[in-house]
Amino acid sequence: METADVRADIPLLDKVIYMDAASTTPTPRPVVEAMCDYFYNYNANTGRGAYSLAIKATQKVVDAKLKVANFINALPEEVVFTKNTTEAINIVANGLPFKKGDSIVVPNIEHHSNFLPWLNLRKKGVEIKVVKADSNGIIDPSIVAETADDKTRLIAVTHISNALGAVQDVNEIGQIARENDSLYLVDAAQSIGHMPLDVKKMNADFAAFPGHKGTLGPVGTGFLYCDQKQSEKLETISLGGGTVLNVSEDDFQLESFPGRFESGTGNIAGFIGLGASIDYINRIGIGKIEKHGEKLTKELYSELSRIENVTCYGDPQNIYGIVSFNINNMHPHDVAKILDEVRGICVRSGHHCAIPAIKHIGAYEQGGTVRTSIHYYNTAEEIQMLGETVEEIAKTFGA
Ligand code: ALA
Repeated sequence: METADVRADIPLLDKVIYMDAASTTPTPRPVVEAMCDYFYNYNANTGRGAYSLAIKATQKVVDAKLKVANFINALPEEVVFTKNTTEAINIVANGLPFKKGDSIVVPNIEHHSNFLPWLNLRKKGVEIKVVKADSNGIIDPSIVAETADDKTRLIAVTHISNALGAVQDVNEIGQIARENDSLYLVDAAQSIGHMPLDVKKMNADFAAFPGHKGTLGPVGTGFLYCDQKQSEKLETISLGGGTVLNVSEDDFQLESFPGRFESGTGNIAGFIGLGASIDYINRIGIGKIEKHGEKLTKELYSELSRIENVTCYGDPQNIYGIVSFNINNMHPHDVAKILDEVRGICVRSGHHCAIPAIKHIGAYEQGGTVRTSIHYYNTAEEIQMLGETVEEIAKTFGA
């Protein structure tokens, strides 16, 4: 499938220039149709009913989990469906038996979802050791190695910074975690669906994923990968229907992993849509998506960085899919509003739920950055239009 074929499946792309993939992506028709098929033809709960509609719904969710697992080189038994990446990370942060004196290593440019759940563990006496990225948002693996010690129970790193697009060497950092005998969590929110991912190559014990970003699935979906060797260490904090094998009046016996983490009725239509979105990505070809993304990222950076009064963040040789910039002396929200009003260009502006990252690059006082983020459906013409429009805005209002 070519870019034009994908655009034909996403009607809203005729109306706007959508450059906010890092936030969420528009949903292609076959994914919407898979969810409509569930609503119209077999809308039943999963894992409960013995009637044929319920069995069909259950099987579809089981199939979706297999697709998702294959996509990251995991087993379906290693995957918990969640509502988003944030929930997946919180399951690990709140489920592992951290205790006073333990430490966790985490970089300073993380999305809040891979920062606050760890910072919150200070209440238990856990030390949070924050590793500083370089001025482009790159984490030097050797600093991670120097920071981790024999008290470090876990190292948590985001593969691609949602604020800066900086790509981290997650395989190398995974090796460091292994050598240090620490657990390792990768937040892959901005890389899944954009490039081939293999949780085994990363040496990840845990990895957290959205369904609604790179994979082009629906909002309200995500998943957690947990290596089978670690799954018994994780305690669940959400108990209820679907999590137990047996219950008496004074005790209960929990399901094994992952069932005990999927309490209550989940987002059945969403997970079926997520399965369809993985099929869709496979039809395009993940290698083809990655090449397109690499090319467009370079074009995006060079188009924006050539403009007078514009500051681009990050190292163009080491970013993917995301370019953050500012027009000097303008608030990023004003830039984003003008882009929308004059050309229908949709970008995110502000702190991107990554305030430490924004402080790190010195953009906090300005109100954050304007963030452009792309996917396979974006074109070189759209990038040129963005560049021309930013140039006009910078000429008119910048200083
Ligand atoms: N995490 C999403 C973003 O970076 C919402 O925009």
